[in-house]
Amino acid sequence: MEFAAFSGEKVIGGVAAFCPSPAILELRHIAVLPECQGRGIGTGLVKVLIEAGAERGSGRMLAVARNTSARFFRKLGFNAVPVAAPENPDFSMHGIFFIVMEKHIGKAF
Ligand SMILES: CC(C)(COP(=O)(O)OP(=O)(O)OC[C@H]1O[C@@H](n2cnc3c(N)ncnc32)[C@H](O)[C@@H]1OP(=O)(O)O)[C@@H](O)C(=O)NCCC(=O)NCCS
Repeated sequence: MEFAAFSGEKVIGGVAAFCPSPAILELRHIAVLPECQGRGIGTGLVKVLIEAGAERGSGRMLAVARNTSARFFRKLGFNAVPVAAPENPDFSMHGIFFIVMEKHIGKAF
């Protein structure tokens, strides 16, 4: 599942997710152009994804969040899951590590 945010014809943000099982939707990538951040675009993209996931019957959404974006996901109701997250030396050399986060999705959102 992929959604993009546009300003006119220009893509200013996007989110991509896949379904490892019918019950789970896993957010893999989200990014908003730096000059467009802080305007609610990322929140809007996650909300659209949650609605689409709930519609297809997923009850749980996972996100492998960077430590630098964990606050963004917490504000959207995600909580950290105590499981090992993937490691990537290209990110860890810059002080970025990953946290698996989850949110139950459905009518409550
Ligand atoms: C994370 C990201 C997608 C958020 O998009 P955005 O459009 O800026 O987010 P929003 O404007 O909807 O922000 C919602 C809230 O989260 C906060 N927030 C957003 N990005 C944040 C970040 N990186 N760190 C801490 N808080 C953040 C905002 O301050 C805002 O809080 P507020 O309502 O108190 O002001 C964007 O910052 C981004 O593209 N970052 C670089 C790529 C990245 O880190 N992707 C995530 C990898 S898992």
